[in-house]
Amino acid sequence: MTSNASLDSREQEFAKISNALSAAIVDQTAQSIVALGDSLELLRRLPNNSISLILCDPPYHSTHKSNIRGDKAFTADSAFLDWLCSFAFEWQRILKRSGTVYVFCSSRMASRLDVAISDYFLPVSSITWTKPNEPGFDGWKGKMSKESLRQWYPHSERILVFEQGAYGDHMATCKTPLSVYLKQCRIAAGMTAKDLTGIIGAHGRVNHGGAVSNWETGRNIPSRDQYDCMVEALEDTGCIGTMLPYNDVVRPMNLTRDVEFTDVWEFPSVRPYRGKHPAEKPLEMMSHIVEASSYPGDVVLDCFAGSGVTGVASVLTSRRTVCMDVEEKWAKQTALNITEALVGEAQGELPL
Ligand SMILES: C[S@@+](CC[C@H](N)C(=O)[O-])C[C@H]1O[C@@H](n2cnc3c(N)ncnc32)[C@H](O)[C@@H]1O
Repeated sequence: MTSNASLDSREQEFAKISNALSAAIVDQTAQSIVALGDSLELLRRLPNNSISLILCDPPYHSTHKSNIRGDKAFTADSAFLDWLCSFAFEWQRILKRSGTVYVFCSSRMASRLDVAISDYFLPVSSITWTKPNEPGFDGWKGKMSKESLRQWYPHSERILVFEQGAYGDHMATCKTPLSVYLKQCRIAAGMTAKDLTGIIGAHGRVNHGGAVSNWETGRNIPSRDQYDCMVEALEDTGCIGTMLPYNDVVRPMNLTRDVEFTDVWEFPSVRPYRGKHPAEKPLEMMSHIVEASSYPGDVVLDCFAGSGVTGVASVLTSRRTVCMDVEEKWAKQTALNITEALVGEAQGELPL
């Protein structure tokens, strides 16, 4: 199947999402849907296997901010964790095999969230966002009385990254969705990893299974050309049907030499401005996530949209987006920001 086939399917899936959310939609363009309501309830309406990237920046609970809906809603940590696990249950259903989930959280809740969400997904990374302030915009850090601190002042946030799947027996042999699928197809086609490696000419230096073994054990990923070669060889055996397109099997990790590739990120925080969302994330950081972890045309979901920065990042990078917020003010702001970004783009303006 060609990548055009996956682009067509994304368009159809987007239309189905629009139907499913219809009454809750406050604004819609060809690339974006903004819905108002409790996102857990809205998620339950979404079709299975329809989303490629989930960005989730929920209330952090540990920060107890009264200007963020839900931040003070949980009297026990366990209730907060259970609440996010109800989301994870739905994400597992709606996320594509090649999809990625990013969950933002405070350093204090990160380890427990990582463990809780690992019941539903395979952990990929835990990113530390160091939130550097620009000179003159030091925020709370500048105002702290150091002498009265009883812990290291938390000046970073965590971004947990997950994919579909479950732990293998060992971290080195993760059962990723790609590895499970490839192995299934290869065995059904009656080929050994060594044979298949020979056919596609991707010999390993160490093991005889070469590149195919590495892909099947989740060590690295095939290029689009290598995948197409493999599909041809496996389908030609006549023992298996049409294999899934690359974009539906291989989780994207679109990195180049000139972008951040480690798990420590230094994107500057958003400077205060009139009307800023209290937890607004930098556009540059959200665009980095969207570009690295989705393909053009994919559907990106943000269930806690706030200012709508995920939506803006998505439309500006030729993705589709579904944004949800329970607060009318923020759902409307999201819609406005996406519209302005699309208009600015049409007029050739650069985003702020
Ligand atoms: C941490 S903020 C997100 C900020 C956003 N990432 C940005 O950059 O502007 C969390 C948002 O989730 C929204 N929210 C809280 N509970 C929600 C729920 N059950 N369903 C949908 N949105 C919710 C809040 O209104 C708030 O805008």
